Amino acid sequence: MKLDVEKATHREIYNLLIGLVAPRPIALVTSMDEDGCLNAAPFSAYNYLCTDPPVVGIGVGNRDSDGLVAKDTARNIRRTGEFVVNVVTEDLAEQMNTCATDFPAGVSELEMAGLETAESAVVKVPRIARAHAALECREHTTLEIGRSRIILGRVVAFYVEDRYIDPAGPYVRADELHAIGRMNGLGNYVRTRDAFLNIPRIPYEEWEKGKR
Ligand SMILES: Cc1cc2nc3c(=O)[nH]c(=O)nc-3n(C[C@H](O)[C@H](O)[C@H](O)COP(=O)(O)O)c2cc1C
Repeated sequence: MKLDVEKATHREIYNLLIGLVAPRPIALVTSMDEDGCLNAAPFSAYNYLCTDPPVVGIGVGNRDSDGLVAKDTARNIRRTGEFVVNVVTEDLAEQMNTCATDFPAGVSELEMAGLETAESAVVKVPRIARAHAALECREHTTLEIGRSRIILGRVVAFYVEDRYIDPAGPYVRADELHAIGRMNGLGNYVRTRDAFLNIPRIPYEEWEKGKR
């Protein structure tokens, strides 16, 4: 199949992008409006972008209902400048999915998902208590591109349960954390349990030796 983007529909482009840029990590983002009302929603247009300073990026599409309107997450971040990325692991998958439901205004996704929160170390927005790891962020910049907002968040604090940290690095014990990834939509995800390939980097000297 070949698809000319100029002639394609938004849905076709979306389907191909999410199917081909996969698996994707999932950020379950907690954010707060100016009255302290909490919000939680998952985003898989998400990754870390640089480390000095540490910055993550999240792509939030505007909602198409009577014109394009910002999703609550994007609106909250614009207003309060803070959010928390809660890492989505196997044991949070169902709750994460509940948080993506478009509940009527005034209904708390966290309550519907049965999730409690815990105080963050630096930002006012709390993290999800059951999440094994979280990144506390302050808005660095928000780019408005077409019908989306790309939110760049500067990470100001990390939270990781001690059991998932190998102090030697410190490294994240990723083979025990069991993060999940999003695939091509259609409710498809991947587990990372028992799924690791270990492919060490090859120093050039070793590469040269191996050639002879
Ligand atoms: C696994 C998963 C990943 C998602 N990723 C995105 C995304 O990257 N961008 C986006 O705009 N919506 C994404 N969504 C949809 C939002 O989570 C959904 O629109 C949510 O209701 C937004 O909530 P809010 O208005 O409280 O911010 C995703 C949904 C799921 C289940």
